[in-house]
Amino acid sequence: MAGHSNYVPQSAPAKWLESRLPVISLVRGSFVDFPTPKNLNYWWTFGGILAVMLMAQILTGIVLAMHYTPSTLLAFDSVEHIMRDVNFGWMLRYLHANGASMFFIAVYIHIFRGLYYGSYKAPREISWILGVVIFLMMMGTAFMGYVLPWGQMSFWGATVITNLFSAIPIVGEAIRTWLWGGFAVDNPTLNRFFSLHYLLPFMILGVVILHVWAFHTTGNNNPTGVQPKSKKDTLPFHPYYTIKDLFAIVVFMILFSWFAFYAPNYMGHPDNYIEANPLVTPAHIVPEWYFLPFYAILRAVPDKLGGVLAMFGAIAVLFVLPWLDTSKVRSGSYRPLFKQFFWIFAINALALGYLGAMPAEGVYVVLSRICTIYYFAHFLIILPMLGFMEKPLPLPASISEAVLKGGSGTPAGAVSAPGTK
Ligand code: HEM
Repeated sequence: MAGHSNYVPQSAPAKWLESRLPVISLVRGSFVDFPTPKNLNYWWTFGGILAVMLMAQILTGIVLAMHYTPSTLLAFDSVEHIMRDVNFGWMLRYLHANGASMFFIAVYIHIFRGLYYGSYKAPREISWILGVVIFLMMMGTAFMGYVLPWGQMSFWGATVITNLFSAIPIVGEAIRTWLWGGFAVDNPTLNRFFSLHYLLPFMILGVVILHVWAFHTTGNNNPTGVQPKSKKDTLPFHPYYTIKDLFAIVVFMILFSWFAFYAPNYMGHPDNYIEANPLVTPAHIVPEWYFLPFYAILRAVPDKLGGVLAMFGAIAVLFVLPWLDTSKVRSGSYRPLFKQFFWIFAINALALGYLGAMPAEGVYVVLSRICTIYYFAHFLIILPMLGFMEKPLPLPASISEAVLKGGSGTPAGAVSAPGTK
């Protein structure tokens, strides 16, 4: 990452530090001088937004943990105590809970950006795979975090999901008991979920550093998918992208604040304001909205083990995506057929989300099955075949040519910044 720095230490202390630990040139090479394609659009600001959201979750979470008690007898009341007695406790909790939803909104946009522009293709496979690892860790963190307030949905959600493991042949029941730390979701379960919920975000941070390192090694993708060929195709990250990212972060924070301050329970479930009761099962057990597509896939398969395999398979298929897409062209902007299938896939994913929220009966089950089959067909049949069948549009010779001709990523007639031609 430091390889792109123009930094030459001037003062004696700076020279002393540089020869021992070159952190200044590392940061400058990565976030100041880093040559970035000059045509990145606003879909490329979500990585920065995600980084800010991760820090916001860690900070609000650390302070919440100072007042939360991970015991089945006290957890629910300690959350109520945070809401009522702790100074600005209500704000911390609403920021943290809505922050989780906003984090997922941003990550889904980030993933779909990658899917559209082929950011998963060579040479960026490792950035993509590390992204899928982060996504899995985010889901684990959010799932365990939702158990902590010890409401009805916390308890029953944890019961449903941990019970899935018992579908594994022979060792399934033993794994479930091991996860619970007992013979039901109970105090040991809550305690270990709290411990892991605190630990995982720091592990995510570690993987994010590797993620950034990987795409700084290959260089960023861009809306044309064409690799930068000369200095004319790039701009230094600062000030061009620091200011663009900052603007997007501010806009995103306005939306986040609107949820946290004006509709803080909109994305939550009212049953979680009822304390957990192992003797009363809620009428419908539904996960948080960001799990709904995967929940629909789980319930679409009539067999329990089959459902579990399909649900994990839906994420596992993302790991091999770089090798399933056979097209030589990266960006969807130059792939007329792929573009249409991309939007069908996006609508299918939204439909799965809707179906995950509906009761698993009648027409909903039939539709869930169709959408589940389509989800897998997109990756396993459509993408491999498209590469052979589709005739892509002619690619621009370079990013500069695309920008000056008003090609992908830049409105027609746009003028490049002074000194960049
Ligand atoms: C905490 C979560 C994450 C953070 C903080 C993060 C951060 C970033 C940042 C800062 C960038 C460069 C700017 C941009 O392209 O938007 C980036 C690029 C990228 N991310 Fe992520 N990311 C996260 C999760 C993910 C996930 C879940 C995936 C995919 C499953 C993913 C796939 C990619 C890929 C392929 C690139 C390179 C794309 C390019 O340069 O065009 N990321 N990420």
